[in-house]
Amino acid sequence: MKRKSPFRVVVTGGAGYIGSHVVKLLVREGHEVLVIDNLSTTSGENLKYGRLAIVDLSEEEKVFNLLKDFKPQVVIHFAAFIVVPESVEKPLKYYYNNVGNTLRLLSAMKRAGIENLIFSSSAAVYGIPERVPVTEEDPLKPISPYGESKAMVEKILRDMDLAGEIKYISLRYFNVAGADPEGELGPTYHQPSHLIIRALKAAKGELPFLEIYGTDYPTPDGTCIRDYIHVTDLAKAHLLAMEYLVREGESQVLNCGYGRGYSVKEVIETVRKITGVNFEVREGKRRPGDPPVLIASNKKIKEILGFKPEFEDLEIIIKHTWEFEKRR
Ligand SMILES: NC(=O)c1ccc[n+]([C@@H]2O[C@H](COP(=O)([O-])OP(=O)(O)OC[C@H]3O[C@@H](n4cnc5c(N)ncnc54)[C@H](O)[C@@H]3O)[C@@H](O)[C@H]2O)c1
Repeated sequence: MKRKSPFRVVVTGGAGYIGSHVVKLLVREGHEVLVIDNLSTTSGENLKYGRLAIVDLSEEEKVFNLLKDFKPQVVIHFAAFIVVPESVEKPLKYYYNNVGNTLRLLSAMKRAGIENLIFSSSAAVYGIPERVPVTEEDPLKPISPYGESKAMVEKILRDMDLAGEIKYISLRYFNVAGADPEGELGPTYHQPSHLIIRALKAAKGELPFLEIYGTDYPTPDGTCIRDYIHVTDLAKAHLLAMEYLVREGESQVLNCGYGRGYSVKEVIETVRKITGVNFEVREGKRRPGDPPVLIASNKKIKEILGFKPEFEDLEIIIKHTWEFEKRR
């Protein structure tokens, strides 16, 4: 990607899985990056680029001082808790961090005079969509506290935009997967909950078996269907969003997916093929908060940002993740 103009960018949650891939691209493109992360859900081993301030977003004064001194043109906000079933069990934990601490960040941004934000939203805001592929105009009916927390922040951003307090792009990620094609970064969650990573851990023998959460969904093979987007394609979408926001000054809400879905059983077969390991699979019960099918319409992000995916292939996504996982 060709650099257009260098920015100073604050990345909250930049030590995490997706954030670290974005930070790498930002630094490669010549942007100056300050990461704010409390290292709560990741070890920090992915943070190879940019400066790190180990700060919790609940510490509003510290965040304000960092913003005031660094004077970023844009804040990219990844920091959140992300495990849907855990959010059902511990809603307060999720609302406190994902909504409460976002309010503190927004307040610090306002006080420091910073008005551009890229927000990590999620397909979870749609709940069980009435149709697929789901478009940005479809109703938001989240079915988990995690999804609610993202929808609430989107509402707050809309109101602040209407009041002239912020310009934002909310990127609604579908299922993010894959690893840096150069092999440097990848998923490093303390407690991995995503299907592809868990399947690879089962292939490595780090999990005794892989459990499928529900085989009685109204889908062709009874398992949930998801739209998997490669983390490096998603990272590029953030850079395009940042350029757009600063250039056009117009808020947007954009789906990030490929518009194609794979069932859990299809993913498992592909993981078995790539790894050559026939790991054990057990059929379990449905988990709360899981819609049967989630597939993005990506027409809008292609039109508005000129987004062109490079790794739109489940085998490549799994291959890159496997190469990273094997070295861990
Ligand atoms: N992974 C996915 O498939 C997916 C899908 C949709 C949306 N998202 C969103 O993308 C964002 C990033 O997800 P990820 O997969 O990289 O998760 P991650 O857990 O790897 O990254 C989150 C980072 O935020 C940090 N963090 C959390 N709370 C913090 C706080 N209060 N103060 C400072 N730092 C804090 C964590 O330490 C971690 O480094 C999240 O907002 C998530 O909701 C992810």
